Amino acid sequence: MIVGVPKETYPGEKRVALTPSVLPTYLKSGLEVLLEKGAGVPAGFPDAQYEAQGAKIAQDRREVFASADILLQVRAWGANLEEGKKDLELLREGQTLVGHFRPLFPEAAKAARELAAKGVNLAAMELVPRITRAQSMDALSSQATVAGYKAVLVAADLLPRMFPMLMTAAGTITPARVFVIGAGVAGLSAIATARRLGATVKAYDVRPAVKEQIESLGATFLELPLEAGEAEDKGGYARAMDEAFYEKQRKLMAETLKETDVVITTAAIPGKKAPLLLTESMLEGMEPGSVIVDLAAETGGNCEATRPDETREVHGVQVLGPTNLPSTVPYHASSMYARNVANLVKHLAGGEGNLELNLEDEITRGVLVTKGGEVIHPRVKEILGMPAEAGK
Ligand code: NAI
Repeated sequence: MIVGVPKETYPGEKRVALTPSVLPTYLKSGLEVLLEKGAGVPAGFPDAQYEAQGAKIAQDRREVFASADILLQVRAWGANLEEGKKDLELLREGQTLVGHFRPLFPEAAKAARELAAKGVNLAAMELVPRITRAQSMDALSSQATVAGYKAVLVAADLLPRMFPMLMTAAGTITPARVFVIGAGVAGLSAIATARRLGATVKAYDVRPAVKEQIESLGATFLELPLEAGEAEDKGGYARAMDEAFYEKQRKLMAETLKETDVVITTAAIPGKKAPLLLTESMLEGMEPGSVIVDLAAETGGNCEATRPDETREVHGVQVLGPTNLPSTVPYHASSMYARNVANLVKHLAGGEGNLELNLEDEITRGVLVTKGGEVIHPRVKEILGMPAEAGK
């Protein structure tokens, strides 16, 4: 069986789905690797490094799609709606596609239906369940770690102040004050990064369980008198709260904002629009020159002033909504992603060099959107208005 790695086509995407150091994992499982010429170059991996590890280099994309049994992408069609669609004519029955697909977005779900019609099996990286057994395959987590880190660096770059406290002959500089809203994977990574740069950090999350993690990173957990008892679901994810809750949360956070130089917002509810936690009028109370980096920009933003991939000045505050920060750290984002993908493929193959796609297995069942000519994922079927099967 051949694993194919085409070049990424999403505008500005610099990551690659396979890195040279991960390549031997595939060869050890008896798979061959065929890489499109130059696919790793934007991430810092020249073809020669892949060849040295045993990959073959294909001169064009068509050859990769024609030969491969398994295709590895960072952004497959659903997560790359315009350019990715061009791959449809290159795909063929029986191939398995592994990559980000954003399958819970309606447009992507429709794309998945077309893939099914073509007989392509699709494993979406976003659907890897957040369970201990699947941690090594969890690309959302690895990429959110990178995004949280980079969000702080971007903010530090724009902030007209320094992050660390300095006591110098020219006076004492007080540390920057950072407020992180949402302490999941990206939030915790942002906290750790801001602390390393010497800022004082406060963080809030609706899930009280994260208090200890926030404190272990040297930040303060902001206690808000909010009744968030039902905030966590069985999977450890946040549940959506009602508008009255968010209204109260906004009011209670307003005081903290006045004493904040940088806000990193990461609040997310899986499969839902991001909760609105910062209104434009709340920005009026912030110091001029303060910076907000809204990591939830792609799902509507936690801040009302956010526009995807824009930097705006609103009431003297710089508001950023970057949607693809992992791609700005492509070397390490790719290294982690490639490891996640390789672990998933190994799992899908059941340790053998073939892809049995055993639906009895929780992880395999969880990630597969299409199989054998059909859309099989219950949540994607629901989005497409397809009847759920009895018992599912
Ligand atoms: P996560 O699910 O691990 O964390 C989200 C956190 O938000 C959870 O801890 C949850 O309890 C918390 N939360 C939910 N509602 C809240 C509220 N009202 N107030 C405070 N906290 C609340 O998600 P992860 O992986 O950390 O990702 C966070 C966000 O970053 C997502 O929107 C994700 O799509 C985005 N992201 C953005 C990237 C970019 O380049 N812009 C790259 C990677 C992820």
